[in-house]
Amino acid sequence: MDGTAAASDEFEDRLARALGGIPNMTPAQGRKVSRFIRDNRLRSCLELGFAHGVGTAWIASAALGIGGQTTAIDLDAARTRAPRIEETLARVGLPPGAVEIHFEPTCYTWRLMKFLREGRASSFDFVYLDGAHSWFTDGFAFFLCERLLRPGGWLLFDDLDWTFGTSSIAGEERVLRMPQEERSTAQMRLVWDLLTKTGSGFDVLLEDGNWGFARRAAGRTPSVVVYRNRPLMRAALGAARRVKRRLTRSSAALSDAARP
Ligand SMILES: C[S@@+](CC[C@H](N)C(=O)[O-])C[C@H]1O[C@@H](n2cnc3c(N)ncnc32)[C@H](O)[C@@H]1O
Repeated sequence: MDGTAAASDEFEDRLARALGGIPNMTPAQGRKVSRFIRDNRLRSCLELGFAHGVGTAWIASAALGIGGQTTAIDLDAARTRAPRIEETLARVGLPPGAVEIHFEPTCYTWRLMKFLREGRASSFDFVYLDGAHSWFTDGFAFFLCERLLRPGGWLLFDDLDWTFGTSSIAGEERVLRMPQEERSTAQMRLVWDLLTKTGSGFDVLLEDGNWGFARRAAGRTPSVVVYRNRPLMRAALGAARRVKRRLTRSSAALSDAARP
């Protein structure tokens, strides 16, 4: 083993020890995502759904190691988790401010709208989508992520085969109210199969167990067409004038033809 590999192993072992016992990302997943970020030099990272911040700790430590930074979004409810994301990040020695953290009242798609509005399109190298696991939310989040990723950046889906009906939240009221089909369908796989695989936005797709990696295809410069939309009344008057001119010409021609 060379010095770099040993240092990398040591770095990962230290993280795994510090994060021991906190859900959700496993040490094996953490090592994989960390190497993926470092090997591909993915400096600007975004996590959708951070829970206690374990995935964030792996992602942000890897990004920081290559001079990058991380943004993470969850719901307001994540403020009361134990441990909170800030505590988890402190456990692995990440300085305050190393991660831009957003707590949203409704959904990360609202914050993604703000990112687009702030000019952050094509600015992320890596997005980890591990939040709602729902077609309704993540079908839309997928398209927003496509806009936010730079060409060559990667979108990582977690839980391709997860279903509401077999999950730890199966007994929650909102899940019990779902139609049976929505409860038993792996909704992230729908996003993967029906949106990611079929569109032209991603040019490399890799499935690895419950994970799906998709590389953003090189972008094309959009062509912009500007339609000049005249107010309706002016357009109507213009049309009336054209008809009048045509009628005048026709009646003059008829008078000429009738002249002996
Ligand atoms: C499986 S956990 C995330 C685990 C984390 N990525 C990790 O690896 O440690 C899913 C998180 O997504 C959040 N979430 C679910 N739907 C969301 C939404 N619409 N907007 C924001 N966060 C959401 C939940 O609050 C939860 O904390």
